[in-house]
Amino acid sequence: METVLIIGGTGAQGIPVIKALTSDGKYAVRVITRNAATSEAKLLADLPGVTVVEGDCYDESTLRNTLPGVDRVFANTNGLAIGEMAEIYWGIRLYELSREFGVKHFVYASLPYASKIGNFNDKYRVGHCDGKARVAEYISAQPTSPMAWTIVTSCLYMESLSEFLVPTYEPNDDVHVFALPLGQGRCPMITLDDNAAYVRWTLDNPSQSNGLNLKVVTENVTGDELAAAFSKVTGKKSVYRDVSLEEYFRLPIFPDPDAKMSSNPTSITVRKNFSGLWNSWKDDLWKWDYQLLDRILPTRTKSTEEWMAKTGYTGKAVPLLKDFIFADK
Ligand SMILES: NC(=O)c1ccc[n+]([C@@H]2O[C@H](COP(=O)([O-])OP(=O)(O)OC[C@H]3O[C@@H](n4cnc5c(N)ncnc54)[C@H](OP(=O)(O)O)[C@@H]3O)[C@@H](O)[C@H]2O)c1
Repeated sequence: METVLIIGGTGAQGIPVIKALTSDGKYAVRVITRNAATSEAKLLADLPGVTVVEGDCYDESTLRNTLPGVDRVFANTNGLAIGEMAEIYWGIRLYELSREFGVKHFVYASLPYASKIGNFNDKYRVGHCDGKARVAEYISAQPTSPMAWTIVTSCLYMESLSEFLVPTYEPNDDVHVFALPLGQGRCPMITLDDNAAYVRWTLDNPSQSNGLNLKVVTENVTGDELAAAFSKVTGKKSVYRDVSLEEYFRLPIFPDPDAKMSSNPTSITVRKNFSGLWNSWKDDLWKWDYQLLDRILPTRTKSTEEWMAKTGYTGKAVPLLKDFIFADK
């Protein structure tokens, strides 16, 4: 049985990936966590084939102790927590260490290179996307042998509709409001289960996934489509309200929008980071190959509406990310 080391395994993205890898006993999984006593770590430890290793995945000695015997790596580094600069360092270092330890296949969880897609216009700078994407560019410049590599470029988790994108309820009008600085643009979202299924596909099919940057999405929706899907599924009134970035950053999810994303001197502020994200969605810069995604995963969830119906979405807030709300670290 092959062993897969997962970086970020206890997170919102990592848990479904580990479940997908271990569901039929095909893979054994090693996951590094800073605290094996958390509910996430315990849940994983109870899955068949999962070994939880206590340590810091951004620490060379922990990685050196954990890599021997590992066949494949899936790395979702946490740039939101460690900052853009450290994410670039650790993404590249994880690749290098994987080569050193004879890993056969390195799968890197990336995000679109918002700055580059936007021709490096400063209004599209998104530290937590650009950091990962620079690592993806480094990996893409490496040979596909002796270690295969695959990049899985994702987007906003669809589950964020219960957290980052949760609608507000206005009781006077009995209406759920998606107030977003999206204009007539599109917000791309991927369900965490389908993201996990694509990651599993990359590991199951290295001859097809080696050297591939697979861009995964469920649907990229307009604000009006989002509100319409919500109304159709729940029977509740809903509207999309196009708000300015100034208005958006007054939401309680951003207690201090002018704080830096990390303590590193190169760090941009929360306001700048998430303005870049919304600007790139507003201008519909991120593109997807739906035909390829259908071919790889014919059973994929095809729309936001389908996901809402399947999951019994209510528009109520549900915790998703360990680090939400965003705060200076
Ligand atoms: N939110 C989205 O829609 C979205 C979409 C695509 C990609 N992403 C990216 O996913 C990454 C975050 O992963 P996630 O979404 O799974 O987040 P999460 O649910 O908040 O999980 C955080 C993960 O990071 C690990 N971690 C290691 N060192 C950490 C540190 N010093 N501080 C905080 N956490 C640390 C945690 O491990 P332990 O706590 O167990 O040590 C845990 O596995 C970010 O890079 C983000 O840009 C997010």
